[in-house]
Amino acid sequence: MPGRLIVVSNRIPTEGASAGGLAVALHDSLRERGGIWIGAHPDDGPEEGLFEIGSEPYQRLAFRLSRAEYDSYYLGFSNSVLWPLCHRRSDLVQLRPDYAEGYVATNRRLAEMIATVAEPEDQIWVHDYHLLPLASDLRDLGLDNKIGLFLHIPFPALADLSILPDPPAFALWLASFDLLGLQTRADTARCLEMFRSDPRAEFFQDGSVKFGDRLVRVKSFPIGIAVDAFRSLAETSDSDPFGGERPQEYIIGVDRLDYTKGLPHRFRAFGEYLQRYAGTRRPCLVQVAPPSREVVEAYRQITEELEELSGRINGQHAELDWTPIRYIHRPIARNRLAGVYRGARACMVTSLADGMNLVAKEFVVAQDPDDPGVLILSRFAGAAEDMTDALLINPYDVGDIAQAIDRALNMPLHERRERHRACMAAVEATDVGTWTTQYLAALDACAGTLSVPTLL
Ligand code: ADP
Ligand code: G6P
Repeated sequence: MPGRLIVVSNRIPTEGASAGGLAVALHDSLRERGGIWIGAHPDDGPEEGLFEIGSEPYQRLAFRLSRAEYDSYYLGFSNSVLWPLCHRRSDLVQLRPDYAEGYVATNRRLAEMIATVAEPEDQIWVHDYHLLPLASDLRDLGLDNKIGLFLHIPFPALADLSILPDPPAFALWLASFDLLGLQTRADTARCLEMFRSDPRAEFFQDGSVKFGDRLVRVKSFPIGIAVDAFRSLAETSDSDPFGGERPQEYIIGVDRLDYTKGLPHRFRAFGEYLQRYAGTRRPCLVQVAPPSREVVEAYRQITEELEELSGRINGQHAELDWTPIRYIHRPIARNRLAGVYRGARACMVTSLADGMNLVAKEFVVAQDPDDPGVLILSRFAGAAEDMTDALLINPYDVGDIAQAIDRALNMPLHERRERHRACMAAVEATDVGTWTTQYLAALDACAGTLSVPTLL
């Protein structure tokens, strides 16, 4: 019988923030097993140590990042080194010694705080790229607990890893976990490639990797959404989320404003669609893109670029009663979002690189199966590995996206239904509840792996 579950993530869900599928799924596991969720509080609390927040049937312990930690660990190494590196934007990587030092020191401080609350039987589930050194730090502090990582973003290519200040340390950080969970089979292959290139690693038949005196399993667990909850949200959502200003026919896009989402390509493709294919048709592109990490220069630039592009395309095509691109630069409530998805004829996901992309799954679940809209999906989003019946596009090819828009808006009902049914099956197979259960079962099973040893 495993002990408590300790979830660690950079962001801790706070009261008032809308609970995403991940938070809900983990909340259920924590409630069932008992446990603790530990994470940085965005704007509150004492400077030292962990402090309790909110009332849940399990504990939530937050810590506060100092200004210097926020700059070096969060904005710096996490979001100006690892994020661009893992998303194939090495050109945006900002290598600075203080970023790497702040990242290592903040993880070390967090490990020391976790060590004060973890008990020997507890299982520790770490989330995402902010916390890669955590298992290694916890091992240094003498903790022998089962510790798993789930990386929500793509695993980088081997060649890109050599950009890091200390690639061997990166491999050691990862090898200190018992289970490395990745989004896709392609991510798993890249992670194993990294270990294969490392003379310290040996491989076992069951796919686990021996590294020093530890054994680490590497496996994909494609993340999903809370399917039933989101479906009922869409079915009962506001029937007029546009408050009387609903466009007659629209395509939806929903993304944090991030340079990985291919938004300029999407806007240009929509412009090309209007020019080459639309004829007398007047669809709208409704793009909801809330600001994200705006202090980082690359995010500032993409914000400006999009404002300029939407202005130019609207200037070229708008008429007195039609604005082609409605660009909304803020978050919207989830129940309204579900209604906006449901009313759309198509959804565009044009990520240049993306761990999974949950928007693709939310759109599919929100559709009316009798008259569903069409998902246009980048081949470079993790979701495309299983959702092969979406209209798959090359997001770098504006002409390809424009053609897919035309195809989506003219697709016959029987083909829309068939594609929707197949996409829906893929989404149901990865429901976030199943995802949590499967990951935790695999983490639990890790203990036995030390006795496997048949060398390949
Ligand atoms: P990422 O994790 O890179 O932001 P995902 O597509 O995997 O991308 O997840 C984004 C999540 O944020 C989805 O659940 C989506 O509904 C939500 N979201 C994105 N933009 C908005 C918005 N403007 N308003 C409300 N929710 C949003
Ligand atoms: C992605 C990352 C998450 C992160 C989220 C929002 O989904 O995988 O770890 O929390 O973006 O980004 P932010 O920097 O605002 O936490």
